[in-house]
Formats: sequence, structure tokens, C-alpha cells
Amino acid sequence: MPLDIVVGTQWGDEGKGRFVDLLAADADYVARFNGGDNAGHTVTVGSQTFKLHLIPSGIIQPHSVGVIGNGVVVCPEILINEIKILLAAGVEITPQRLQISYGAHLITPAHIALDKAQEQARGKTMIGTTLRGIGPAYTSKVSRAGIRFLDMLDAGNFETRINRHVTEVNDHLTKLYQAEPINPKRVIDDLCQYSDEITPYISDVSSLLTGALKQGRRVLAEGAQGTLLDLDHGTYPFVTSSTPTAGGALVGLGIGMGYGDRVIGVTKSFQTRVGSGPFPTELEGDLAHKLRGTGEQPWDEFGTTTGRPRRVGWLDLVLLRYAARINGINELALTKLDILSGFDQLFICTGYRKDNQTHLELPFGPGNLDGFDPIYEEFPGWEQDLTSVRKWEELPAAARSYVLSIEQLIGVKIKLISVGPEREQVIEKN
Ligand code: GDP
Ligand code: IMO
Ligand code: MG
Repeated sequence: MPLDIVVGTQWGDEGKGRFVDLLAADADYVARFNGGDNAGHTVTVGSQTFKLHLIPSGIIQPHSVGVIGNGVVVCPEILINEIKILLAAGVEITPQRLQISYGAHLITPAHIALDKAQEQARGKTMIGTTLRGIGPAYTSKVSRAGIRFLDMLDAGNFETRINRHVTEVNDHLTKLYQAEPINPKRVIDDLCQYSDEITPYISDVSSLLTGALKQGRRVLAEGAQGTLLDLDHGTYPFVTSSTPTAGGALVGLGIGMGYGDRVIGVTKSFQTRVGSGPFPTELEGDLAHKLRGTGEQPWDEFGTTTGRPRRVGWLDLVLLRYAARINGINELALTKLDILSGFDQLFICTGYRKDNQTHLELPFGPGNLDGFDPIYEEFPGWEQDLTSVRKWEELPAAARSYVLSIEQLIGVKIKLISVGPEREQVIEKN
């Protein structure tokens, strides 16, 4: 059963891209199943750093085929730019190496304008979206007014649909939000031009991947965002509009039950979040500055897609336990352990207290975390720089104890630990 699924267990940016790149060494296909270019997945190989927004991170491994599933929303302009950037960096991209589901929906300039207008109108309750048109594109899909890649294959129909879509969105933009309308003619011209470049990549992803799985080939499903941003299971309403959790892989790629092997949850050694919403273990002041970094290092906690400083805090095991359950995670990959060097003490939230009651699980999910106060367990820190450690036994005892405690408190094995962004900065733990 050779389908492995990689998911983020927090609010995104856990380091999924770097582990997808690593695991893709053993995969024939690497497939994105949710989200759009709100994602920013970083892969570092030697002197080259790739920031991927739409194309699966596995594409950097020369043998694997990249797949974009029906669950993804795609801005054609961003896709074409990303193809160009990868080609210029020496990564081969051809219709044999990259396939896009006919069922994936388009993000148009109208969706992007609507995302901006809606965020502005939300005022103080703004979600802090990436302004990439994600929510409006999924809204079009759900309301059955979306435009799919399949529509590109029939030029007349494509133009009609775009025109109808832009007219409808303009109605919202001007009447509900007093925003400037979008010029439909321009959108039609641009999208038709992109369509000429993209149509060779359109395929039946469900059939492709299921056929491959039946032949015993390996498929790695790459989730974007993270469990706590899941539309159904995240910190609603401060979530994205897709399904980043493991179930989303089956729906978002058109793969049936029964092929799944591993669900790998990627977890940062501490907690980060970009955008609004609850964050019980959030830190401010010196500790926050130390965890976040100044922005000088490429791995410092500033958004890959938007450049915004990320909110940071201590690792939250109530939320990680929840993510393990929602995804059926059977192994964890822990990132950024190197960042925790040089702290006198470290803290992990092991439970919450509310109204004199202790909660190891949330009674009604993570949407409303008001009044839930973290209960912390304190751990000794370590001074040693971990970036050149490659063996579990070579980690300082305090770092091992930190990792083992997470395993024990969650009940899921941590199999991989990263201590730097590069491909080889990984410790395999048995
Ligand atoms: P993703 O969205 O989950 O793929 O994660 P991002 O790429 O947005 O953010 C993770 C950042 O941390 C990137 O800059 C990675 O290069 C970097 N990174 C990943 N793992 C490690 C690690 O173990 N140590 C350090 N220092 N940086 C890491
Ligand atoms: P990767 O794949 C971190 C956040 C946004 C905002 C919320 C909704 O790199 O982990 P959206 O634009 O999706 O409507 O914004 O979700 N968000 C992410 N945060 N990493 C991401 O992706 C994210 N994608 C969306 O900041 O809070
Ligand atoms: Mg990211």
C-alpha cells in the first residue's frame, strides 16, 4: 500500500517542503492535494534554495513526477512563473514531469480582488489571509460557479465562464465592498494566453495515480498549510478554505481508500502562526525575538509567501495530540531542533486548565480557546550547536529528553529530526 501522506500538524510552515523533498527520494509521484499559492515550501539543496508555492516540493528530485490534484486552486500566472523559475534553476519541467488535474479550480484576478476587499471589510476581525484569492476561489468551487482546468480545453466555453465569473464578482466588489470592478476583457485575454501554455500539462490525476499505485509504485502526497488551518478541524474561523489534513489527500487527488501506508506529521520544535487567531502558548519579548530570529537567516520566522513576521511560542502538545488524532498520524518528523540551542530553560504545554479543570484534549476542538490556560512542563535547555549533529546519540542529553518527552506525551514515534534546512541536516531516530 504505497501511498504516504505528509501533513503539517500546526498552523503551517512546519518544514513540510524540506521533508517532502527528502522523502521524495523514494517516491515515483509527489502530489499536492490542497491549497494554492498561499503555501510557501522551502527546499534547500547545497547552495540552491527553492521556494515552491504550487509545484510539489518533490519536483527537485530528478526522478519523481510532480502532480497537482483536483483539491488545489491554481493561479495560472503564478504557476507559469514558477515553472520558469524552476527551469532557470536547472529543474526539468515538462508535461511528462508535471501533471495538473483537469478538476483543479482556477484562481482569477477577480478572486484576488475579492480576497482583498473582504479582508478590508473584516476590519478588526480580519483573518490575515495571504491575499492570494484562496477563500474566494474555494467559495466559487463550492457554489458551483468555479472555473476548472477542464474548461481550458474548450476555448469558447472558457471565455463564457470567465466572463460570467468576473461579472458576478464585480457585482460583489462594487455593491458590497465599494471596490473597483475588474475588467473582464483583460482577464479573458490573459487567461486564454496562459491556457495555451498550460493545456499540455492537464491530465486525469486520479487515473494516473491510481494506476501507478496498482502497479506498486510509490506516491507521496504533499499537504500544504497545517491541521490547525483546516477548514473543518482548525481554529475556525481563523483557517484557510481547504482540507490540509490527511483525509484531504484522498479527496484532493481522487484516490480511494486502501492505498494508505504512512501518515507523516511534520511538527516544528516550537509553535508558530502567521495571521490572526488563537495561540495559547504565544510568547512576546526577548524569548519571542530569540525564537523568531531577526530575519537575517533564511530560516528565521518570517512568512515565505508574504514576508510577515510569524507569531511564535512554546510547543503545544494539546494541539499536537489533536492533530495526531485528526490525521491518524503514525510518525512524526520534528524540525528546527537546532533553533532551541542556547535557551536556559524550555517549556512544553502538556495540557490546559480552565475553570479548575485540566484538559489534555479539547472538549470542542480548537475553534474557541478562550480561557484555556497552558500548563507547562519545564525542560533544561542546552548550549551545543546542533547543526552538524547527524546521529541521535550525539545529541545533548537535554535535547534527547525534550524529543523523547514529546513522543511519550503524544504516543507517536518521532522518526526524523532536522537540525538545519539542508537535505542532509537530518537525524534518523529508531
Ligand atoms: P513549509 O511551509 O512547511 O514547507 O515550511 P516553510 O518552508 O514555509 O518554513 C520552514 C523554514 O524553515 C524554511 O525556511 C526552511 O528552510 C527552514 N527549515 C526547515 N527545517 C529546518 C531546520 O531543521 N532547521 C532550520 N534552522 N531551518 C529549517
Ligand atoms: P504553508 O503550506 C502558514 C494562513 C494565513 C491566514 C490563513 C488564511 O507554507 O504551510 P488564506 O490565504 O489561506 O486564506 O489565509 O491561513 N496560511 C498559512 N500560514 N503557512 C501556510 O502555508 C499558510 N497558508 C495560509 O496566514 O492566517
Ligand atoms: Mg510555508
